[in-house]
Amino acid sequence: MKAIIPAAGLGTRFLPATRCMPKELLPVLNKPILQYVVEEALEPEGVDGVVIVNSHDKPEIERYFSVDENFENMLRSRGKDSAADEVHAAASLPVSFVYQDEPRGLGHAVHCAAEAVGDEPFFVLLGDYFVPDRQMCVRMEQVSREHNGASVIAVAPVPADQVSRYGIIAGECVGSLPGTDATGENEGAVWKISGLVEKPKPEDAPSHLFIVGRYLLSHRVMDLLATQTPGAGNEIQLTDSMERLLAEEDMYALVVDPDEGCDTGTPVAWAATNARMALSDPELAVAFREELGERGAALLG
Ligand code: UTP
Repeated sequence: MKAIIPAAGLGTRFLPATRCMPKELLPVLNKPILQYVVEEALEPEGVDGVVIVNSHDKPEIERYFSVDENFENMLRSRGKDSAADEVHAAASLPVSFVYQDEPRGLGHAVHCAAEAVGDEPFFVLLGDYFVPDRQMCVRMEQVSREHNGASVIAVAPVPADQVSRYGIIAGECVGSLPGTDATGENEGAVWKISGLVEKPKPEDAPSHLFIVGRYLLSHRVMDLLATQTPGAGNEIQLTDSMERLLAEEDMYALVVDPDEGCDTGTPVAWAATNARMALSDPELAVAFREELGERGAALLG
């Protein structure tokens, strides 16, 4: 089974930084966001490779995941072996590329990988969001197995006054992850989805569970995407094809902790993710606070 990572977007919320630098290669500490996502994508047992959907305007992404012996040798000749090892490890990840000619939406990007995933189900992981402990997709795979290989998406609770910013699910709680007895909108609960509602008004929202950017989908979605007409924002929306899938197949949602993953899609989210990653490592946390100095540390509170 393959995992698809769409990374061909324009990254407009990050301009001007993304004029010459793909958003997905921005670093969190010393590693590009996309490498965290690739490593996470490879964690579920069933995944044997990653397909990155790239844009021809972002050749740096393919370069990053390609072995460059000259560069590695140069590093080694200067005694920088551990840096050379890290560069080599990143370049050796099982990653292949397909190209999206223009950013026509997430659904369109996913469909660009149709041939690469073959006849199997596939994961989709958004290229600007990652889960540090890499376990979200592993648990989604577990839920799928328990429901005869059905599609499973990750959802997280959001305050009622914020539902209008997200894609929200309708449905009912039908169980929980093995080993937990979670119910309702609590972490670990499993829902059977009956509908998907884009950006509902608070009074119309069928739940407070939003789609967080991790999908394990039946291959049938690829057929539906092939005939998908543009939706919101005149883009081919993945959720529109998932909505059509619901008429044919069961689909489930796993409730996850909203803070489990790190968003990097906007400058503020990216900065917060860098701080979180630095502060969650005991050694780095000390160095980070020192770098902030007294004034900076006081700002953190
Ligand atoms: P986003 O909407 O967050 O990324 O898509 P974006 O479009 O690059 O960002 P803004 O809104 O202009 O700032 C989530 C992921 O899907 C990819 C993006 O690269 C990002 O990793 N994507 C989005 C595609 O690959 N193709 C598309 O047509 C749209």
